[in-house]
Amino acid sequence: MAEPRPRVWVSQPLFDDIVARLEAHFDVDAASAITEYAPAEIARRLAEVDGALVTLNERIDAGAVAGAPRLRAVANVAVGHNNLDLDALSAAGVLATNTPDVLTDTTADLGFALLMAAARRLGESERWLRDGRWGQWSFSTMLGADIHGSTLGILGMGRIGRGIARRGAHGFGMRVVYHNRSRLPDDVEADLGATWLDFDGLLTEADHLVLVLPYSEQTHHIVDAAALARMKPTATLVNVARGGIVDEQALAEALSSGRLAAAGLDVFEGEPAVRPELLALDNVVLTPHIGSASLATRRAMVSLAVDNLIAALGAGPHADDPPSPINADAVVKTRKATDRKR
Ligand code: DGY
Repeated sequence: MAEPRPRVWVSQPLFDDIVARLEAHFDVDAASAITEYAPAEIARRLAEVDGALVTLNERIDAGAVAGAPRLRAVANVAVGHNNLDLDALSAAGVLATNTPDVLTDTTADLGFALLMAAARRLGESERWLRDGRWGQWSFSTMLGADIHGSTLGILGMGRIGRGIARRGAHGFGMRVVYHNRSRLPDDVEADLGATWLDFDGLLTEADHLVLVLPYSEQTHHIVDAAALARMKPTATLVNVARGGIVDEQALAEALSSGRLAAAGLDVFEGEPAVRPELLALDNVVLTPHIGSASLATRRAMVSLAVDNLIAALGAGPHADDPPSPINADAVVKTRKATDRKR
């Protein structure tokens, strides 16, 4: 008798024509409507499948995989993977994958757009005009901060950080300074025109500081009241990484007291909820986690996640060699140990 086909779960409606590629290999249970899942519902779905394609909205932790003996792969449709408990997945022998590279430039574009919008007060200007207040114009209406020729600070110099550095240095003649756990090689620094500084130096020197570092226990609230107090009062802070990197209460206080000039935020600690204190402020531009949201890039992300899932479940031209695994080494160890016990 033929082996039953592997089953996969697709947690949210994505692009049907791309997700349909899974059907050549698997029985697919794809959500037809946007769904908010309780943890027990995620566990129930995973219990029945060999693989899953999930978004940042689904938290996949030890509880989610505990009752899922068939589960072998979880493909995240995002580069960030703080929704996945990698230790739990690795211990369960579940390979996790993500979608790096394809979203780098689109997210760097958005980071730069937020920087410009915050520094040049675009959101506030637009609201003012729509409110019919142009008649109150004066020569000092909506004065903002220059971008060209200023100092661009970047915290976290991965792919997206480098994309933002390139835009600043080559497009706007900015001096680029950055902080990262490891320094970039000299030739990469030279190409980007970027100089490494320690964290304090970055805070004090940046006219515009963009956060692009991964979220972890170590980076939780790394930009807190003390860090904000080290920044120039004329500075702009932009976050396109993860909300939990910034102490939002401290940021709201710094923005409302004039301790910090402006901010642009695409990510929030409790998203989709946004702190009322931030919503009430004029000098912060707020967007709903749209860093990678161009049509071409979102399609490329889904396509890469589909490729990852097909390969991770041992099918397709790259069987067992998915393009972007996250925890491959740990999973190999778990699977070897499990085989030994059998
Ligand atoms: C990512 O891929 O991590 C982005 O934040 C999602 O848009």
